[in-house]
Parts: sequence; C-alpha cells; structure tokens
Amino acid sequence: MRSEIEIRRPETKQEFDKYYDLRWRILRKPWNQPKGSEKDEMDQTSIHIMAIKDDKVIGCGRGHFNSSVEAQIRYMAVDESFQGQGVGLRILKALEEILTENGAKEIILKAREKAVSLYEKQGYKIYKEGKILFGEIKHYWMREK
Ligand SMILES: CC(C)(COP(=O)(O)OP(=O)(O)OC[C@H]1O[C@@H](n2cnc3c(N)ncnc32)[C@H](O)[C@@H]1OP(=O)(O)O)[C@@H](O)C(=O)NCCC(=O)NCCS
Repeated sequence: MRSEIEIRRPETKQEFDKYYDLRWRILRKPWNQPKGSEKDEMDQTSIHIMAIKDDKVIGCGRGHFNSSVEAQIRYMAVDESFQGQGVGLRILKALEEILTENGAKEIILKAREKAVSLYEKQGYKIYKEGKILFGEIKHYWMREK
C-alpha cells in the first residue's frame, strides 16, 4: 500500500537524527561541509517541521523568532527524489501557520537563488541581496509583503 507523506514536527530522537541528516545531506554535503555544520545554536528553541514517508524523513524546515513579532524560516530542504512535488510548499505553509499562531507578524527568510520562485508563489518578495554562500550560492532576503 502506498503511504502518504505526513507533515509534522519531529518528536523522537530518531526522528530528529533523520531530520538533521537530511538537512546536512541536501544543504551542506554537496559543498563538502562537515557533519555538525547543519546545526546552529537556535535549534534548541526553534520550531521544526519535517515531511515523513515510510519512516524516512524526506523534507525539513525550521522557524525561529528574531523578536516577539519577527520570525525567520531557515533550512528548507527536500530529498532530491521528492523535489518538485509540493512537499516544500507544504512544509513552508505548516511553518507559517505555527509561527503566526505564536505571534509572528512578519516572516522573513534568506532564499537560495533556485528557491526564490517557490517563496514568490507564497507571496514573498525580495527586499535585499544576501551574501554568497560556499563561494557560489547567491542568496536573497525575502519577506511577505
Ligand atoms: C527548494 C526546495 C526546498 C523546494 O521544495 P520542493 O518540494 O522541491 O518544492 P515544491 O514542489 O513545493 O514547489 C516547487 C516550486 O519550487 C521551485 N523550486 C525550487 N527548486 C526546485 C527544485 N529543485 N525542484 C522543483 N521545484 C523547485 C519551483 O518554483 C517550483 O514551482 P513549480 O512546481 O510550479 O515549478 C527543494 O527543491 C530543495 O530542497 N532544493 C535544494 C535545497 C535548497 O535549495 N533549499 C532552499 C534553501 S532556501
């Protein structure tokens, strides 16, 4: 039987391990960044959302607060074999919902150039150019406006 892709928060240590592993595999490994580089000090207090199918974490995204009203989304990633099927959008919407429930009046994010169109579809606009990451990835700061 074909199982559905579930979008929810990771709960167990096992789920968190798989969640961070996906982050590393998609967002760090291709640029030869070591294990551990996929985490930061905000993770402990952030909101984490994953896409899970058959016990395999195939998508992830994180939200944190920069102030009581400004939230930021980071570390959006989807397993290569599931990209382009709406999983990223579902994770983005789930994060937006929880952040808004928790008081976010504005959500910002720093998008890699390839991901800009996804966020534009969801109503975000570029307001500033970001830095170049790993010597080659262009970033754009975006917010909902
Ligand atoms: C960017 C990413 C998270 C989007 O998730 P996704 O599940 O592939 O995206 P969705 O299917 O929900 O949305 C697709 C839209 O995102 C955009 N998109 C960006 N990268 C894409 C990719 N590699 N494949 C397909 N669509 C992509 C397109 O505009 C697409 O719209 P379309 O389907 O109408 O053409 C995912 O492709 C990914 O992990 N890419 C590599 C890592 C990365 O760049 N992360 C973003 C950091 S800001």
